Amino acid sequence: MSIDKPLTLALTKGRILKETLPLLARAGIEPLEDLATSRKLVFETSHPGLRLVVIRGTDVPTYVRHGAADLGVVGKDILLEHGAEGLYEPLDLNIARCRLMTAAPVGWRPGGARVRVATKFANIARQYFARQGVHADVIKLYGAMELAPMMDLADLIVDIVDTGNTLRANGMEPLEEIAAISSRLVVNKAAMRASHGAIQTIVDRVGAAVAAAG
Ligand code: PRP
Ligand code: MG
Repeated sequence: MSIDKPLTLALTKGRILKETLPLLARAGIEPLEDLATSRKLVFETSHPGLRLVVIRGTDVPTYVRHGAADLGVVGKDILLEHGAEGLYEPLDLNIARCRLMTAAPVGWRPGGARVRVATKFANIARQYFARQGVHADVIKLYGAMELAPMMDLADLIVDIVDTGNTLRANGMEPLEEIAAISSRLVVNKAAMRASHGAIQTIVDRVGAAVAAAG
């Protein structure tokens, strides 16, 4: 394999992207075009031989696992839900920090033997309630989980809590923390072996930028 093989870093679009770009800039990695105004999905960068792709968070582990991207930036919530098989996770980027929690309408108390749980984190929720010895019927949703208890689709939700504003605005309160979440740098295991020097340089630069951010 050529030592000049270009590397691809897959970024999670949306809120995480806004916090990722300043961190990458401090690591000397800047897109050559403005990601915010472009409809493109692939961007060359100031770092020789490194390009960016900007995709949904749930797709980042898929790209990196298959080697379609060598590196990725993705939330720990997605790694916990979809698995981290085939991936190294060398860095906690310490950005997009939030908590994965159970939440319920204010004053809700468990009534029967089972609870109905609405979430986009179905695997995490099943594991969590199984560990608690609670019979949970997990209902998979793709967004706006806070609506489910209001519409009597579910008793509880499992969701990301940042400011807590969305819960409060919908008459809900956080209950138990399942995991502390932040974004991680992930690397394809085979790429790490094949392009070790080039990838380690990127990991080191990003790691230094994380440390400098405190
Ligand atoms: C996320 C999350 C919560 C909210 C947490 O939803 O699912 O609803 O943000 O943030 P807060 O604690 O600061 O209110 P998002 O807006 O991404 O929409 P979605 O759940 O419909 O995808
Ligand atoms: Mg939401």
